[in-house]
Amino acid sequence: MNPPVRRPRRLRTNPAIRRLVAQTRPQPAQLLLPVFVADGLAEPKPIGSLPGVVQHSLDSVRAEAVRAVEAGLGGLVLFGVPDDADKDPAGSCGYAEDGILNRALAAVRAEVGDDLVIVADTCLDEFTDHGHCGVLTPGGSVDNDATVELYVRQAIAQAEAGAHFVSPSGMMDGQVAAIRAGLDAAGHLETGILAYAAKYASAFYGPFREAVGSSLVGDRRAYQQDPANRREGVLEAALDEAEGADIVMVKPAGYYLDVLADVAAAVDVPVAAYQVSGEYAMIAAAAERGWIDRRTALVESTTAIVRAGADIVLTYAALELAGWLR
Ligand code: PBG
Repeated sequence: MNPPVRRPRRLRTNPAIRRLVAQTRPQPAQLLLPVFVADGLAEPKPIGSLPGVVQHSLDSVRAEAVRAVEAGLGGLVLFGVPDDADKDPAGSCGYAEDGILNRALAAVRAEVGDDLVIVADTCLDEFTDHGHCGVLTPGGSVDNDATVELYVRQAIAQAEAGAHFVSPSGMMDGQVAAIRAGLDAAGHLETGILAYAAKYASAFYGPFREAVGSSLVGDRRAYQQDPANRREGVLEAALDEAEGADIVMVKPAGYYLDVLADVAAAVDVPVAAYQVSGEYAMIAAAAERGWIDRRTALVESTTAIVRAGADIVLTYAALELAGWLR
C-alpha cells in the first residue's frame, strides 16, 4: 500500500490540536435556559419527566437567575404555571398584570436588570382550561385572529413586567406583525420579538406538558407544522422575519437540523433553536441508566445544533453546559 498523501488523523492527534482546529465552539453566552415558575409554590418542585429541572417559586427563580448570570448564560426564557382554578377558556391569567408569568418576569428583572436577556413565553396554552394555544371557535378549532389579539395584550403586559423579548410560540398566522404593531403603539419600541418561526407538532414536547400542568386533550396539528415538511420551515421563518421578528427560532432542534440549516441560510436575523423537553429527557433518562454519558451527550447535541446554524440554543442543561464549555 502506498502511504496516503492526506492524513486527516494528524489534526486529531491530541487534545491541544483538536481544540485548535475545532470548527464549532458553543459558548455559555449563546445559551438560553427555559425556566418554569408556578403560582403559590413555597419550595421548588421537581418535574418527574425532566430530571434536574424544577418548577420554581418566585424566590427560587430569582436565585436561578443569579446563577445564570454567574455562569455567563445569555438569558432565561420564562414560562408560567398558574393554579388550575385560574384557568379559563380565554387564558386570561396569561395576560393579567398579576398573572404568575408577569410577576415572575418582574421579579427576575428586578433581580438581574440587564445582566441577562429575559424572554417571556407568549402563548396561552399554559393558561387555558382546554390546553390549546388560543381561544376556540364554536366548532372547537383555534380561532387564529381572535387569539392573535390576546397575544398582543399578553405581549404588552410582558413588556411592562420587564421582559426584554416576547416570544410568540402559538404558531398563529400574522402573530409577529400584530405583536410588533401592538408593542410599538404601547411605546415598547425596544422590546424584541424572538419568534417561534418553524415550530413542528412534535411528540418531543411531552415532558413540557407535565412541567406546565397542561390540560390539553388532543393535539396541535391544526396550527403547529407537520414534521414531514422541510420547505415550510423556511416559509414560516421568512414570514416572521418580514413581519418584524428580531430573532427566529426552529423547534425542536435535534431532529430538525435540516430545517435549521435551511433557515440559517435563508434569513438575515439571528437564529435560535430549542432543544425541547423530550430531547433533554431522553438524554437524561438514558444517562441515569448508564446507557450514555450525560456530559458528552449534552455537549455533542448542543454542538450539533450550533454546527447546523443556530446562533442561540435553548436548553434545559444550559447551566451545566456553561460549566463544561468554559
Ligand atoms: C407552547 C410551548 C410548548 C413548548 C414551548 N412552548 C408546548 C407545545 O407547543 O405544545 C414545548 C417546549 C418543550 O417541550 O421543551 N407555549
